Amino acid sequence: MKKIELHLHLEGAAPPALIRGLAAEKHQDLHGMFDERGGYAYQGFKDFLKVYEAATAMIQGPRDYARLLEAVLAECAEHGAIYVELFISPEFCGGADLPAWRDHLGAMEEVAHAAAAQGLDSRAILTCIRHFGPERARKTAICAAETSGGWVTGFGMGGAEDAGEASDFAWSFDCAREAGLGLTNHAGEWRGAESIRDSLTLGVTRIGHGIRAIEDAALVRELAERGVTLEVCPGSNVALGITDWRRHPIARLADAGVRVTVSTDDPPFFHTTLSHEYQMLAESFGWAESEFRQMNQWAAEAAFCDDTTRTRLIKELQ
Ligand code: ADE
Ligand code: ZN
Repeated sequence: MKKIELHLHLEGAAPPALIRGLAAEKHQDLHGMFDERGGYAYQGFKDFLKVYEAATAMIQGPRDYARLLEAVLAECAEHGAIYVELFISPEFCGGADLPAWRDHLGAMEEVAHAAAAQGLDSRAILTCIRHFGPERARKTAICAAETSGGWVTGFGMGGAEDAGEASDFAWSFDCAREAGLGLTNHAGEWRGAESIRDSLTLGVTRIGHGIRAIEDAALVRELAERGVTLEVCPGSNVALGITDWRRHPIARLADAGVRVTVSTDDPPFFHTTLSHEYQMLAESFGWAESEFRQMNQWAAEAAFCDDTTRTRLIKELQ
């Protein structure tokens, strides 16, 4: 089945073997960061963020970014993706100043063009880190605004949802909107409905996760009426202990008319793939091709791409 993925962190998708290789090249000791199976080892979300930061610190310079993107897009193609949006956080890799970001972007654009020629289209969403604070977010927003118009089509925010309020980052979201970028924010993952409502004040058309909207019936109705799209990452939520597969809110949100889509977030951290997400949803809720087709259609409609690309994607999905 052809799939669209709207929520995939480039750094969080780094295969552990690639990070180990980069660490060896840089004579860095990442001892203790991997489990006995060679995967990333962490205990809970805050520890996940720490390991994530240590791993992503190994990605430095245009060559590393290009190798990473090549590996990640190959994996996406293997699982049937025809279009993917990559969350990229220059703050993690020492590249949040504009000249460094331009270098990294140039290297990645070459890889992205080559993948598009092979049938996998992609776009980048520059993503600031909430727990690094509003000042650092501004730098990422400026990188996004200054390089918008080509492969970079979106701006977003990830990181610890309990760090301040989304509205503290209004300057950055305004800057990105004025540059014509699509907007999304991680919310309703670690906090409830009020965090999603706060995100909506930023003018986002999509919410990363958003599953805890289910705790507030009025908010669920509002999301459905406004056509806000949720980038749901069920395997991530299960791996981080927020819920389990059978109780996952995605099915109830879909039943309430909310536009839900399916993504992987940080696949190697959560031992998942896009195919695995679909398989688990099929097993948990009895979903079949028609449900997945509807979600991919919503994903195409919410994608941060031009209308020509959108029309082509919608056709390809049929
Ligand atoms: N960055 C990468 N994965 C994340 C998640 N699940 N929540 C918040 N920020 C993230
Ligand atoms: Zn995410």
